[in-house]
Amino acid sequence: MRDNAARGLERARRRTAELTEFDDAELTRQHSPLMSPLVWDLAHIGQQEDLWLLRAGDASAQGVLPQAVERLYNAFENPRATRATLPLLTPGEARAYLDDVRGRVFDALDRLPDDAAALFPYAMVEQHEQMHVETMLATHQLRDGTPILGPGTTVPAARSVLHDGVLVPAGPFELGVDGSDEPFSLDNERPAHVVDLPAYRIGRVPVTNGEYRRFVAAGGYDEQRWWSEPGWAHRVEAGLQRPQFWTVDGGRVRFGAVEDLPDDEPVQHVCFFEAEAYAAWAGARLPTEQEWEKACAWDPERGERRRWPWGAADWTPALANLGGTGLRPAPVGAYEAGASAYGVEQLMGDVWEWTSSGFEAWPGFTPMLYAQYSAPFFGGDFRVLRGGSWAVDASSIRPSFRNWDLPIRRQIFTGFRLAWDV
Ligand code: AVJ
Ligand code: FE
Repeated sequence: MRDNAARGLERARRRTAELTEFDDAELTRQHSPLMSPLVWDLAHIGQQEDLWLLRAGDASAQGVLPQAVERLYNAFENPRATRATLPLLTPGEARAYLDDVRGRVFDALDRLPDDAAALFPYAMVEQHEQMHVETMLATHQLRDGTPILGPGTTVPAARSVLHDGVLVPAGPFELGVDGSDEPFSLDNERPAHVVDLPAYRIGRVPVTNGEYRRFVAAGGYDEQRWWSEPGWAHRVEAGLQRPQFWTVDGGRVRFGAVEDLPDDEPVQHVCFFEAEAYAAWAGARLPTEQEWEKACAWDPERGERRRWPWGAADWTPALANLGGTGLRPAPVGAYEAGASAYGVEQLMGDVWEWTSSGFEAWPGFTPMLYAQYSAPFFGGDFRVLRGGSWAVDASSIRPSFRNWDLPIRRQIFTGFRLAWDV
């Protein structure tokens, strides 16, 4: 287990390095008011590792950095839009800080008992770094100028697949997980509890660019009746006309390169309000997160959860588009072997999927070591996103994993699938 923890931390660090091995000017620039300069994410990754793994979360204990410098990396005290104006570590200083912390962390890891309870903070910090890797990818996507990331590796080809709704019969299932099933699940995924749902249908595959393009062409952005009240207010105020990064003439910009829009790829860079409007136009709705998780993890024949939609086997690149190397979603139909027990496809990877659910605690919620990870966000104006995007590492996603963001956000790698009442 200790070896796995060390390998996981190293894998996250290789990804961090790949996204930050650029000139200082690239790293210190604020590419968008929505995002931090990359050098802030870089040092914040080290600061969190220092706090949780070298000081057990005691912020008053002396860390590797002076307290006044460390405070610059407190996400609650420093809004993203202000971070480029702070006296941050330089990229060189940030890299040296990360190396220093990591050396001490590996020394501490060698002295730990080899059990899940002792290793939880390490898995938590690994997942934290992987989340910031995805954040840094969103920053790269917002960056202007000649491409610096390249086109990405190839993803599996499309296969012809029905874009229908798969029936999930009424009945109880187990929502969420416990530490005994998923030792490295985060606080908001726990505890496991029984939920009974009426029958519903859920999209076999996510909504594609080709489908979404028809909504745009049909004037969907000009017809208030498809939009919720706050959704329409946002659509007008922000002047939304099409997904972010789509060009006027039917292409898209991806990591700085203009390319044709692939019709059979899941649509990405839509906000919750756009997803909701498309669903109304299509005579459907968004799934709740409970519906999403049942379709993903429940095995109705055995009456138990699966570890992954496809079963207990570890992830491989043939099962889901995870790990980030493709730098884009794969076309629908690409992962027949990754289907859930109900036959729903591409639940893991490709795009984060908006659900209609607000972010709330499961009954019996207990905060983890990083007590401010989830709790401050419950009951706010956030919507839950499920399944992970292509940018997420397999170590940092599970059928029970819950992400959240504001309903107006679309710089993250978000799409959606439809649902229908039965
Ligand atoms: C879980 C993606 C909503 O980025 O705000 C990173 C993850 N929390 N550092 C976020 C997170 C603290 C979080 N999300
Ligand atoms: Fe963070």
